[in-house]
Amino acid sequence: MQKIAVLTSGGDAPGMNAAIRAVVRKGITLGLEVYGIYQGYHGLINGKIKKMDAGSVGDIIQRGGTILYTSRSEEFKTEEGQSKALDQLKNKGIEGLVVIGGDGSFRGAQKLWEKGFPTIGVPATIDNDIAGTDYTLGFNTAVNTVLEAIDKIRDTATSHERTFVVEVMGRDKGDIALWAGLAGGAESILIPEAEFDMKEVIERLQQGHERGKKHSIIIVAEGVASGAEIGEIIQKEAGFDTRITVLGHVQRGGSPTAFDRMLGSRLGAEAVELLHKGEAGKMVGMKNHRIVAIDFNEVFKKNTDINMDFNLDMYNLNKSLSI
Ligand code: ADP
Ligand code: F6P
Repeated sequence: MQKIAVLTSGGDAPGMNAAIRAVVRKGITLGLEVYGIYQGYHGLINGKIKKMDAGSVGDIIQRGGTILYTSRSEEFKTEEGQSKALDQLKNKGIEGLVVIGGDGSFRGAQKLWEKGFPTIGVPATIDNDIAGTDYTLGFNTAVNTVLEAIDKIRDTATSHERTFVVEVMGRDKGDIALWAGLAGGAESILIPEAEFDMKEVIERLQQGHERGKKHSIIIVAEGVASGAEIGEIIQKEAGFDTRITVLGHVQRGGSPTAFDRMLGSRLGAEAVELLHKGEAGKMVGMKNHRIVAIDFNEVFKKNTDINMDFNLDMYNLNKSLSI
């Protein structure tokens, strides 16, 4: 293998740039030519491909977003789109591709591999919703961003003796809500993994209030309900002065934490090592601090109950600490 390429796809995540840098520099170290594909699969179909050198990834390890841009491409989901993409790769003599993205991006990468083109995935999404890796790139940074917001909201919650409902991202997973909620001392955390009863949430708020707690913070994962829906119930049923904050895309941006830079560097470099060794159709991940590789099909099969036990433990722990 002489020429490889890298692209970022789906939602951006802090740490993607660290992974791009690692792919380019590890590739060069191994004597490969490395190409950057701009705007994910959309750019691949349209031939937005440029040769990278060591300098082209300088000064990016600390930056959020992705210097290669990203996109969601409906065209790439079609046979025709995939065949156009393969033509672009073949025209440039590219023999392997690193896809930095989430589950959807890996389904695209798996399609290319099924057609004989070697691909390796690097898990990157703030949601931490990919099986086969303890953490996805961007999750750690997003948790810290949410935590910073909770700490600030707590100042106002305390000063005004108010209840705050904070809605956070995560798609169908509650990892961001749980980690940030536990670390931020939230009174209640509502996540899709655990059934909850609004009556119980309100009772806990009222009990706290009776014991002298004058403010409360409730974290709601977007996969459960909107912050507005939960806030309205609390205001109506408990009668507490309630405010709602939807953190939104602020959670996707910002300089990656040391952890995400480390993870991006390790996973990006390993992806290139695997392609160089002739392996493909796999995602690289980190399990118990070790870098591992797992077939895309295994990732898709296990994607239903990721971190379930761990999340339920954290959920119950928070309940017992936030009395
Ligand atoms: P993420 O990678 O963050 O999960 P998406 O689910 O939006 O993000 O997927 C990113 C892109 O990957 C899609 O816009 C599409 O181009 C491609 N993709 C997703 N699912 C498939 C699929 N089943 N087949 C081919 N390509 C897919
Ligand atoms: O997958 C990352 C994520 O930020 C989710 O947490 C959220 O539900 C979704 O993407 C938002 O997507 P968009 O940026 O297209 O609004």
